Amino acid sequence: MTITDGSELISPHYYAEHGAPHDLWTRLRNESPVHWCEPEGFEPFWAITRYADIVDISTQPELFASGPGITVIRRVQRANLEESAFGSMRVIIQMDPPEHRAVRKVASPTFTPRAIRSLDDEIELSARELVDELAGLAGGECDFATDIAAAHPLRILAHMLGVPREQEPDILRLTNQLFAIDDPDLQREGDDREQATMELGMELYAMFDAIIQDRRANPRDDLATVLATATVDGEPLGPMETVGYYLIIFSAGHDTTKNALAGGMRAFLEHPDEWRKLRENPDLIDKAVEEVGRWTSPVNYMKRTATADTEVRGQKIAAGESLVMFYASANRDEDVFDDPFRFVIDRESNRQLGFGIGEHFCLGANMARRSQRALWLELARRLESIEFAGDPAQIHSAFVVGLKHLPMRFALASG
Ligand code: HEM
Repeated sequence: MTITDGSELISPHYYAEHGAPHDLWTRLRNESPVHWCEPEGFEPFWAITRYADIVDISTQPELFASGPGITVIRRVQRANLEESAFGSMRVIIQMDPPEHRAVRKVASPTFTPRAIRSLDDEIELSARELVDELAGLAGGECDFATDIAAAHPLRILAHMLGVPREQEPDILRLTNQLFAIDDPDLQREGDDREQATMELGMELYAMFDAIIQDRRANPRDDLATVLATATVDGEPLGPMETVGYYLIIFSAGHDTTKNALAGGMRAFLEHPDEWRKLRENPDLIDKAVEEVGRWTSPVNYMKRTATADTEVRGQKIAAGESLVMFYASANRDEDVFDDPFRFVIDRESNRQLGFGIGEHFCLGANMARRSQRALWLELARRLESIEFAGDPAQIHSAFVVGLKHLPMRFALASG
């Protein structure tokens, strides 16, 4: 009998109902670390669950390509996607070398630690304002996922990408519709799914195109201008590539950071000693951010496609087969982490894989760390008590995973 056909690993509804399948991953790591899966209705894949194998695969981008796709999709979705506007939108996360390196270079200078530190004032202002706004909430209760965790990266990314403040709710709604296609609460309304997707594409295009035209006419010293005026090998980026760049930065940066923050707060609510530790020792902040990243692993997996016959851990893989690297499993790998099922904010030696590794290592990692750092410090300084005020609810997603609601009761420190 096979351990699993992979349904639990990839079904959005499984994650919504049960959370991440950690027991199953632990079994797979020990009994079948390169495991063939044929979940009903989805494309088949090899499930990769050990840390060392994910490092091996991610650092050979010629042999394990991103171009054919980075997510496992339903068989019926494949045909729709290829025909839709999104199928023709080419973005770095789905490119391979040498093209990938040339296009990544457009934005990478904007994401160095030094460049991100120049955003510190904006990032700290967002953290301060959001905690100030908590004071106005009735009964000392909030939905931490929507009120704080979603709002913080939204403000910072909108600022970087030149989205005017009044359009922040629109960009949030549109990207939710784009990426939470399996979540009945978040997906775009409309019985005709193809029509709904087409309208969504047009709305997003119009929003970013207005920013692009503005920055071309009035260049500034910001990421929005860098993208609007980018050239690769001396040629300007095409219109779909330019809009795609805005979209990938916003979408890769928003839900991931939001889910790390909401999942991190849940972890602190469940481990009050660790929250107290952070409040008493704010200098532990950088380690705490890494532990939250390891614990929550907001990007659950990335897919690769073998470009030639090869082997992983002695298992033969045929050219054209998919491999799905489960970062959330690697982040609990007993060979790498002591006591991996404990949430410990001052964990020594935490080489968590939440940002991936190798060719596609998260472009926004410095920013994700810096923005979480600012918010946790502000919260730890000003929240005197925290407790659950209801049950958390998981998003219907197996790809970027986390909480859509986290009801929380709190008391703010005076002053
Ligand atoms: C906690 C937050 C975040 C997590 C867990 C995360 C995770 C990841 C992971 C695992 C990858 C690797 C993909 C692969 O190997 O195929 C990645 C790539 C990427 N991330 Fe992040 N990310 C986060 C925040 C951000 C932010 C804030 C931004 C931008 C502002 C961002 C932009 C990107 C981009 C553009 C890529 C593609 C890089 C490439 O293909 O070269 N991410 N991210």
